[in-house]
Amino acid sequence: MKVTIDNITLDVEPGTTIMQAARMIGPEVAPPAMCYYEPLQGSGGKCRACLVKVTAGSEKDPRPMPKLVPACITAVQDGMIVENTVNEAVLETRKGIVEFLLLNHPLDCPVCDQAGECHLQDFSFEHGVSSTRTVEERNTFEPVDLGENIKLNMNRCILCYRCVYTADQITDGRVHGVMNRGDHAEISTYIEKAIDNDFSGNVIDVCPVGALTDKTYRFKSRVWFSKPMDAHCSCDKCSGNVTLWYRGEEVIRVTGRKNQWGELKEFICNTCRFDRKKTSDWVIEGPTEVSRHSVISANKYGANMIRPAFPIAQAARDFKQIDDNRDRSFLENKSILPAKK
Ligand code: SF4
Ligand code: FES
Repeated sequence: MKVTIDNITLDVEPGTTIMQAARMIGPEVAPPAMCYYEPLQGSGGKCRACLVKVTAGSEKDPRPMPKLVPACITAVQDGMIVENTVNEAVLETRKGIVEFLLLNHPLDCPVCDQAGECHLQDFSFEHGVSSTRTVEERNTFEPVDLGENIKLNMNRCILCYRCVYTADQITDGRVHGVMNRGDHAEISTYIEKAIDNDFSGNVIDVCPVGALTDKTYRFKSRVWFSKPMDAHCSCDKCSGNVTLWYRGEEVIRVTGRKNQWGELKEFICNTCRFDRKKTSDWVIEGPTEVSRHSVISANKYGANMIRPAFPIAQAARDFKQIDDNRDRSFLENKSILPAKK
């Protein structure tokens, strides 16, 4: 089937979603995703970060779709025309989506372990507005220990359901989920029962924000001060392919390897993640190439960084010429400015 996204036409298999088609073109046109996670079946459709405009439904019925549609769960039709980055209404709507996601999310990036690799941070940087209209009090929750190695900061959760799908699909028995609905909804194990099985640590990697964090890594370093290295070991539970995060000579964190969309390439076991923290446990392959555009890839590791167009466009739009007809005498008297001749 033929689909056109942001004036670029490509052929895709039936059943492909708009998100998958856009990702085939590349990150410049791929809509942002806060809940969709390709490796997890059924994910998507929760956060509305990926809303796009369908200006022609199909070749047979070229009428536009009346409302914006979520790219991650809308299947492509033959002849469909989609607008993402070229549609003003889409960009305007995303500002609202960022505002909604931040209604309850605290602005605690300075103390959050996810800062630097947080999808919400990137999403608000690229698509949000720089001010807030929120006056309401945020929902607050006490941090909860989910077993020995995982900490839940429900304050930061955006209810994307990724961790629920992960526990459902790759662990033996899910013991947590989204309890209650509406603004009472929260991720919980209900009786704070520990998530205790060999692959439970993957919920940390799939969480787009800092709601689920690794207790063995919490507050150890800012991510941009650490150095990621690809490494492997022979593990009898998982592939053993991981990223080691170094601070100096010390391995301070072990995570799964991620692709350019920030999604895990493979799920890893808890032994690799939490118990193998010595260089001698691993065969080092070399520095990890960080391809996701984020502060983490800025200026280091030979990153293959794609500069997002949105902040540059916003800066150009908001740029104001400095009014330079101010009285200069004060600055001249203080010798801050040279006296005019
Ligand atoms: S804890 Fe993280 S992964 Fe789980 S629903 Fe909340 S934001 Fe999503
Ligand atoms: S990424 Fe599509 S609705 Fe969340």
